[in-house]
Amino acid sequence: MDIEFRDSPETGSPRIVARIVEQDKLPGDLPLTIAEGAKATRFTGKAGQVFDGFADESGKLVRLALAGSGKKDTESRHASLEKAGAALAAKYLTSGETEIALDAASSGLDASETAAVLMGARLRSWRWDHYRTKLRDEQKRTLTKVVVIGAPDGAKAEWEDAQAVATGVEFTRELVAEPANIIYPESFVERCAKRFEGTGAELVVLDDAEMEKLGMGALLGVGLGSARPSRLLAIKWMGGAKDEAPIAFVGKGVTFDTGGISLKPGPGMEDMKWDMGGAGAVAGAMLALALREAKANVIGVCGLVENMPDGKAMRPGDVITSMSGQTIEVLNTDAEGRLVLCDALTWVQKEFKPARIVDLATLTGAMLVALGMEHAGVFSNNDDLADDLLHAGKQSGDKLWRFPLAPEYDKLLDSPIADMKNIGGRYAGSITAAQFLGRFIENDTPWAHLDVAGMVWADKPGATWDKGATGYGVRLLDRFIRNTVKG
Ligand code: BES
Ligand code: MN
Ligand code: ZN
Repeated sequence: MDIEFRDSPETGSPRIVARIVEQDKLPGDLPLTIAEGAKATRFTGKAGQVFDGFADESGKLVRLALAGSGKKDTESRHASLEKAGAALAAKYLTSGETEIALDAASSGLDASETAAVLMGARLRSWRWDHYRTKLRDEQKRTLTKVVVIGAPDGAKAEWEDAQAVATGVEFTRELVAEPANIIYPESFVERCAKRFEGTGAELVVLDDAEMEKLGMGALLGVGLGSARPSRLLAIKWMGGAKDEAPIAFVGKGVTFDTGGISLKPGPGMEDMKWDMGGAGAVAGAMLALALREAKANVIGVCGLVENMPDGKAMRPGDVITSMSGQTIEVLNTDAEGRLVLCDALTWVQKEFKPARIVDLATLTGAMLVALGMEHAGVFSNNDDLADDLLHAGKQSGDKLWRFPLAPEYDKLLDSPIADMKNIGGRYAGSITAAQFLGRFIENDTPWAHLDVAGMVWADKPGATWDKGATGYGVRLLDRFIRNTVKG
C-alpha cells in the first residue's frame, strides 16, 4: 500500500474521500445525503464501522466514506483508529477502486492518530498471494494507495516511524503464513538474515553442534526426529544506553509440530505450521525496532526446531538434560514447546543477563479453550512487568489476560525419576506449562510468558487482518519497548 501526503485535494484526486468519525459525534458539516444515509443505516461511529454514499461537491460527484473510530480518550484509542483505517481498506480492497483519500484535516486527527489510521489501512490490505497463480479478476486487489489530505504537522514523521512497525508485522505474517516445507529452522534463519541486512541488527546463529556443546539437550531432543537440523537464532539490537542491561524476547519456533511419537490426530494438523508464531513475532518485533532505530537494547531469541516422529525421535518416558542442568522426564513428546523454550531461556540469561524477559509461544491448546481468539494469556513472576504488558496490550490492540502462577501448580510437575515431568495433570494445562518455564528463570529475573496459541492465526478476518496470519505480538512488543525503555 502506497501512502502519499498532499496539502489539498487536487484535480485527479481519488474519487473516494474518507473521514474518520468519533462514536456518536456525526460531524455537522456533512452533505445532507451522507448525514441522512449514515443515520438511516445506523452508522454511529463505532470502531470499524463504515458507511459510504455519494455527494455533490461543487458540481462534482464524490464518494464520501465515514469510518468509525469509537470513543475518544480510551486506553485503546490507537487500536480503534487502526480499526477505522483497516475497515476502509477491507471495504475497498478488491472493489475496483485504486485510491482513497483520507481527509485528515476535517477528521480532526493529530499526527500520531493519522499514522494509526494509515497503519490499520496498510495492515488490513496485506495478503500472501505468493502461491496463487489463478486469481480471478474480482479476487485481485485493486486498492493500492491512500492519499492523506491536510495532514497535521509531524504526521509524515509519525508515519515513517509507524511504517517500521507495519513492516515488522508483515514480516511476522510472512513467516507464519509460509508452509513448513518452505520455512524450517535453517530457512527461517536465512529469511531473517536477508531481511535484517543493512538494518544494523546483529544476528547470532547456533547450529546443532554448538548447542550440543552447550548442553541444550531439551531443545535438541525435540529436533531428534527431524531430517532438518535445529537452530538457535539471536537478533541483537543494541540501540540504547551503553551499559543498560537488555530486554530479552524469546520465541517458540517449532516450524512444524506433528506431536512427535505422541503423534497428533490427523485432522487440523496442518495448523501446526504456525507453531513458530512466537518466534515469528519476535523476529518481526526485532525488525520493527531495528527499522525505527529504537533507543533500546533488545535481544530477540528464536528456538527453531521441527517436531517429527522417527526412529531417532524421543520416546515418551525418555529423560533428557537441559542446558540448566535440570533433568526432564518427557512423558509426552507433544509438549515440546516448553523443551525448546527452556534451553533458549537458559542461554539468553547466561549470555546477556537481561533485565526483563518476555517469551511468546503457541504453547498449549488449553489456552484456546480458555481465551479463544481474543486474548493471549500472560503469566508472570512480576506484577510490574505483567502490568506493563497488559497496558501495552490494550494500547496496541494485541490484547492480553493474566493467569496465575503458584507453588501448588508447580508441584504438579514433580517426577518420580527426574527433576520434573514435561506435563502436569489433566487440568490447568496452560498454567503448568508456564510453571515449567518458570523453573528455568534464575535469580527472580522479571519474566513473563505469553501463551499466544489462539492469536497467531485467524480463521476469519479480524480488526486489522484478513484470515490467516495475524502478526500478533509485534505491535505489543514494540509498544512495550516504547513505554518502558527510555533511551
Ligand atoms: N503447539 C501445541 C499447542 C497448540 C495446539 C497450539 C493447538 C495451537 C493450537 C503444543 O506443542 C502442544 O501440542 N501442546 C499440548 C500439550 C499437552 C501434550 C500437555 C496440548 O496443548 O495439547
Ligand atoms: Mn506439541
Ligand atoms: Zn507445539
